[in-house]
Amino acid sequence: MVKDKMRALAFTAALLFASSANAAGGGAELEPSNIDPGNVNSLQRGARNFMNYCAGCHSAQYVRYNTIGNDLELSEEQLIDNLMFNAEKTFETINASMRPADAERWFGTVPPDVSLIARARGTDYIYNFLKSFHVDPESPTGVDNTVLPGTSMPHVLAELQGYQTAVYETHEDSHGDTVTEFSHFEPLTVGSLDAEDYDDFVRDTTNFLAYIGEPIRSERRKLGVWVLMFLGFFLIISRMLKKQIWKDVK
Ligand code: HEC
Repeated sequence: MVKDKMRALAFTAALLFASSANAAGGGAELEPSNIDPGNVNSLQRGARNFMNYCAGCHSAQYVRYNTIGNDLELSEEQLIDNLMFNAEKTFETINASMRPADAERWFGTVPPDVSLIARARGTDYIYNFLKSFHVDPESPTGVDNTVLPGTSMPHVLAELQGYQTAVYETHEDSHGDTVTEFSHFEPLTVGSLDAEDYDDFVRDTTNFLAYIGEPIRSERRKLGVWVLMFLGFFLIISRMLKKQIWKDVK
């Protein structure tokens, strides 16, 4: 019995260790995205960024405009004027403007639906992905990405960030083999945002993608409070009931 418990404990510990090791690994070092899911202003800016720069290619088919409107505290008018460029009814989901067949022809792949992308890849990944496009004359899009090498996504935020080149360094590893490693980026052209503002832009956009991955998160928190209150109330009632039922027995 005790042995079984010990074994279960050891197994859980091993699992925990393995999963944290996994999260830390993964090749390229990622800067933390530092998103703030409770910051409605950041989410509103992220929604605007997404509609302006991403929804042309990417759909988010699990999320409806009116849900976004409610959660992000936007009036129907604000919603229609600022976010709904390719939809007519607020109950519609976010569809890409581009037809999948065209996308396939242009990019060789259909841009993925991004409803769950933040959950699949993690927010740090997305934040870094959007910061890591760099000029590559051999790529059909003119750019490559250190986070997703060989990607077919163009640098759609180039007018904001400007273009940059990736600087690589070679050194010898312990076996005496030369290895080439990414070192840092160097700006090539200037975009309309400085580095800090571009980081904020990308952080807000990432925040929005995290939100659409789990739009009922805030709802669930509220619900949780009610459930706890109900349980507390129920505890009191059952205490009283117990006293009542057992009162003649003692
Ligand atoms: C011009 C079309 C286009 C636009 C606009 C666009 N993307 Fe993409 N995106 C793509 C394509 C194509 C892929 C598939 C890339 C691949 O698999 O190599 C992709 C892939 C991605 C991925 C997945 C990367 C992965 O690891 O699979 C993310 C995240 C992403 N895009 C985010 C964005 C965000 C955020 C925006 C807006 C700032 C945006 N995209 C705008 C075409 C686009």
